[in-house]
Amino acid sequence: MSSLVRTEPLRGEPPLLVPGDPYSVVVLLRGYAEPEGGDNAVRADGSVTLVLPQAWSPTSGHRHPPPSGGGAKTSLEEAARGPILVDTGGPWAQEALLGALAGQGVAPGDVTLVVGTHGHSDHIGNLGLFPGAALLVSHDFCLPGGHYLPHGLNEECPLRLGPGLEVWATPGHGGQRDVSLVVAGTALGTVVVAGDVFERDGDEDSWQALSEDPVAQERSRKRVLGAADLVVPGHGAPFRVLREVSQPEKKGLDQRQQEPAVD
Ligand SMILES: [Fe+2]
Repeated sequence: MSSLVRTEPLRGEPPLLVPGDPYSVVVLLRGYAEPEGGDNAVRADGSVTLVLPQAWSPTSGHRHPPPSGGGAKTSLEEAARGPILVDTGGPWAQEALLGALAGQGVAPGDVTLVVGTHGHSDHIGNLGLFPGAALLVSHDFCLPGGHYLPHGLNEECPLRLGPGLEVWATPGHGGQRDVSLVVAGTALGTVVVAGDVFERDGDEDSWQALSEDPVAQERSRKRVLGAADLVVPGHGAPFRVLREVSQPEKKGLDQRQQEPAVD
């Protein structure tokens, strides 16, 4: 038997809460990319997602400043005990970001870790709002004050932040150092906040033209589709990944269906 994969946009407007234990996921702002005028100009901004540990609450007032010693592993795990922001959107959306965070009871100073999936302006345009947070932008990990720590992330070696919480190396779109955040154990299964590994659901017509390394990105896309039950793409609604088991006698009749593919 083989597993067929299809995708389906998740309905609802942000903020979109996916409860989970030990981590919940809240899509704060939905990214978009719209043609504007001629010459292939677009108006765009990236999705912004909040990951909240079950143990953290707005009323606890409990902040976990990352320690300056102990190496990247310890610092990442400590930073992941507070609110984690995955991408920040562009600087033009600063007020929208602050409003969306406030709606969840999270002040900018509460955020202990910001993960930037890749270094494009519509994804990391508001890092300046979070000087007290640890920053993992692409493969660069630093603590407040600009203390950079090596960590060894690669496609075979994810960074573990906590139970069921990992950063994966998902190269391709912006180059070799793009990352995604993987959150297991939510009400919708495993959520992958994937940046522009996926522009949007059904982006088969466009992602390659925006990719620095389509071969690597194809590999990253298959890996994400193989693990995710829900994908938060860089510019569009989150989409579910639905797997159906085909009948054995159908195997080989349609080879394309055996590969993970976006509808
Ligand atoms: Fe991008």
